[in-house]
Amino acid sequence: MSDTNQMPREEGIDHSLSLIREGYMYIMNRHRSFNSNIFETRLLGKKAICMVGKAAAEVFYDTEKFKRKDAAPNRAVQTLFGKNGVQALDGQDHKHRKEMFMSIMSLEGLQSLTDITKKQWKFALNKWEQMDEVILYEEVKEILCRTACYWAGVPLEESAVKKLTKDLAAMFESPAAVGPNHWLGRNARNNVEKWIGGLVEKVREGEVNPPENTALHQFSWHRDLEGNLLDNQTAAVEVINILRPIVAISIFINFTALAVHHHPEEKKKLETCDEKYAQMFVQEVRRFYPFFPFVVALVKKDFIWNDYKFEEGTLTLLDLYGTNHDPETWDNPDAFSPDRFAEWEGSPFGFIPQGGGDYFMGHRCAGEWVTIEVTKVSLDYLANRMEYEVPNQDLSYSMVSIPSIPHSKVVLENVKRKL
Ligand code: HEM
Repeated sequence: MSDTNQMPREEGIDHSLSLIREGYMYIMNRHRSFNSNIFETRLLGKKAICMVGKAAAEVFYDTEKFKRKDAAPNRAVQTLFGKNGVQALDGQDHKHRKEMFMSIMSLEGLQSLTDITKKQWKFALNKWEQMDEVILYEEVKEILCRTACYWAGVPLEESAVKKLTKDLAAMFESPAAVGPNHWLGRNARNNVEKWIGGLVEKVREGEVNPPENTALHQFSWHRDLEGNLLDNQTAAVEVINILRPIVAISIFINFTALAVHHHPEEKKKLETCDEKYAQMFVQEVRRFYPFFPFVVALVKKDFIWNDYKFEEGTLTLLDLYGTNHDPETWDNPDAFSPDRFAEWEGSPFGFIPQGGGDYFMGHRCAGEWVTIEVTKVSLDYLANRMEYEVPNQDLSYSMVSIPSIPHSKVVLENVKRKL
C-alpha cells in the first residue's frame, strides 16, 4: 500500500493558456473547485504543483525543500529579473548576496529614501498645478525613477529621465506580455544593463564616485564568497534590482489613490496623520489589490508533505494573491479594511504580497520596507497634502492582466497643493 496520496490533478496536456487567461485567479479557481490548498497541473509542457495559503507558504520557503536556480521562466529572466541576479541563487551564495542588499536597508538608508521621496512629490506637485490633467500612474513612475536614482547613487541627467523611466517600467510591465511588448521589455533591459554596467566600471576606475552607502557604490565593490568583484553585468543586474522595483511601487501608489477615492470614510481617518493608521492603510493596499501573482521554485529533493509526494525538479507555484485572500487567515478577505492590521500578529507566511519567510535566509523581497515607506509618503500626499478632482473614468482593474493597473491609470484634475 502506498503511504502517499495522489494530489488533486487538473487533467489535460498543458494549462499554460488557462494560466494566461485566468491570471491572478488561476490558482484560486482550482483551489475552490478541488477544495484543496494544493493541486497538480501541467505548465510549460511539464508537471507543476500549485499551492496557496499560510501552511503552503511555510513549506515553500523551506530552503531544504525548494531551490530557485533555473526555476524562473526564461521570458521573466530576460525582462524582469536579468541573469545571475540574487533571485536565482541558493544556499550560501544567496545568503551572501542578499546581505549585500539588506546592508542598504538600514534605518538611516530608509530615512534618506523617505526624504528624497517627499522632495520629489513636492516638485511634482508644483508641476501638476500647471497641468489640466495628471495621469497619476505615468507621473508617479517618473517621481520614483528620480527617487530611485538619487537614492541608489546613480547619476541621472534630467534629459534622460523619461527614457529611463520608460525602460525600467517596460521591465515589469512586459514579463507576461507576448509579441512586441515582450520585446520592448527585453530591449529595455539590454539598454539599461549596458548603461549601468558602464557606470560600475567607472566607479571602479574612480571616474564616478557615488556616496558610500548607496547601491551603486556597495554593489560595485561587493565581493563574492571567493573574494572576487561581481562581473559588470551581474553588478548592473543587481543595481537594476533596486531601480526597477522602486519604479514599480507606482502600481501600489495607483491602487492607494483608488482606495482613497473609493473609501472617503478612510480619508477622514487619514487626515489625523496618525503614522500607525497610515501604515495599516498601506498594509491593506498591499494585501487587497493584485500585484505579484505567484512565486516559483523547483523541488530540491524528494519529500512528503501532508501525505503528498513532491518529486525532485518539479516546478512549484505559490499563490501570493490567493494567500493574501485566504479566508482561513483573513476574515472577510474581499473587504478593504485597514483596521484588520490593528491587532495583526505579523505572520511571515500568511501576509505575503512581496513573498514570505525570512529576508536573509530566504527570498523574501529585499525592498518590502522601502515599498511601505515610499507608499506611506505617497499616501500622505494623496490624502492630506493635495486637493484634486477625480473625473469620470474607468477605474476598474483586470484580474487577468499581469501586472494589473487601474484601466484609466487614475486621472486627476485641478490638482492644488493644500496649504
Ligand atoms: C513594488 C512593489 C514590490 C513588489 C510587489 C515586490 C515583490 C517581490 C516578490 C514577490 C519577490 C520574490 C519573493 C520570492 O521569490 O519568494 C521579490 C523579491 C525581491 N525584491 Fe521585491 N517587490 C517590490 C518592491 C521591491 C523594491 C522596492 C525593491 C528594492 C528596493 C525590491 C527588491 C527585491 C529583491 C532584490 C528581491 C529578490 C530577493 C531574493 O531573491 O532573495 N522589491 N519582490
